[in-house]
Amino acid sequence: MRVLLAGATGAIGRPLIAALTERGHQVLALARRPESHGPLRDLGAEPVTADVMDRDGLLRAVRGLRADAVLHEATALKGVGRKLTADDPTNALRDKGTAHLLAAAEVVGAHRFLTQSLITGYGYFDHGDRPVTEDDPFGVATGSYADPVLAGCRATEEQVFAADIEGIALRYGLFYGPNAFSDMFAGLMRKRTPVLPVGGGGYASWIHVADAANATVAALENGRGGAAYNIVDDEPITWRQFVDAVAAAHHTPRALALPTWLIRLTVPYLACLMSDTSIRVSSERARRELNWAPVHRSVPAGLGLVAR
Ligand SMILES: NC(=O)c1ccc[n+]([C@@H]2O[C@H](COP(=O)([O-])OP(=O)(O)OC[C@H]3O[C@@H](n4cnc5c(N)ncnc54)[C@H](OP(=O)(O)O)[C@@H]3O)[C@@H](O)[C@H]2O)c1
Repeated sequence: MRVLLAGATGAIGRPLIAALTERGHQVLALARRPESHGPLRDLGAEPVTADVMDRDGLLRAVRGLRADAVLHEATALKGVGRKLTADDPTNALRDKGTAHLLAAAEVVGAHRFLTQSLITGYGYFDHGDRPVTEDDPFGVATGSYADPVLAGCRATEEQVFAADIEGIALRYGLFYGPNAFSDMFAGLMRKRTPVLPVGGGGYASWIHVADAANATVAALENGRGGAAYNIVDDEPITWRQFVDAVAAAHHTPRALALPTWLIRLTVPYLACLMSDTSIRVSSERARRELNWAPVHRSVPAGLGLVAR
């Protein structure tokens, strides 16, 4: 297939181009900066300059192009420490950005649309030890500080399911691997920045970016229009287990911990994510319907600490 990929230069975008081209798909890669063009070409993609938030500019850029599918992987999560605001750029990309990309999909004649969603869309609270599935309530506000993130995930999913296109949502686990959270935490631990709540935090389900990329290609090829798929590995772990694995793999000092109340005061989103949330997610549907399974079954395996 020929695909138009938004977020092509990102942590998931780059391995995704590799996974798509390996399967014989052609990639039109959206990028805002011309300096990204060389690296995108090196990966085998054809760059297209456009800002997803500029609807008219985006539609001008894709006019005359043809694609079978649009993949929305654009986010703006850098500086996860900052406070969430009403006009948070990632939420805008999920809400308005999705609308703009759906319009672009019409221009290029695409019949499929895959969008990035997140397992935290199930809510920032303790889900217990039961595996959370796609049938659990999703994007329902709970009065948490992180409710805008739920609204963003809901906004992108609802739009792609409602549009006259085969819309698919990929509810990724937390990303680790090159350019993702593991690299980010390794950098912070090297600087002795405290990154952990006292007590070690709740459970989360993770996915190596290479496995997330392979799952996305599988969804492009085999996914059911109107479906959401959880994309996670086999072993949910606590934040303490995650940062310990990152420290061991990256040879950094061990993580320093702060009381949750202090994290909540300074970086409230992280308190929601690491202390308020405990979630173990099942990807059984993706394995069954997409014919996909992660190569890296756990974070320690994906970081090369134990055998796959
Ligand atoms: N499931 C997860 O855990 C999850 C999900 C997303 C991100 N993250 C993590 O969050 C961290 C930072 O992520 P990030 O979102 O800053 O970077 P990123 O995922 O590395 O890249 C974001 C991508 O979105 C594109 N983009 C952003 N705004 C755009 C716009 N207005 N128009 C077109 N494209 C746009 C960027 O393109 P340009 O080249 O044009 O900037 C880039 O390709 C990473 O560690 C990443 O792994 C985790």
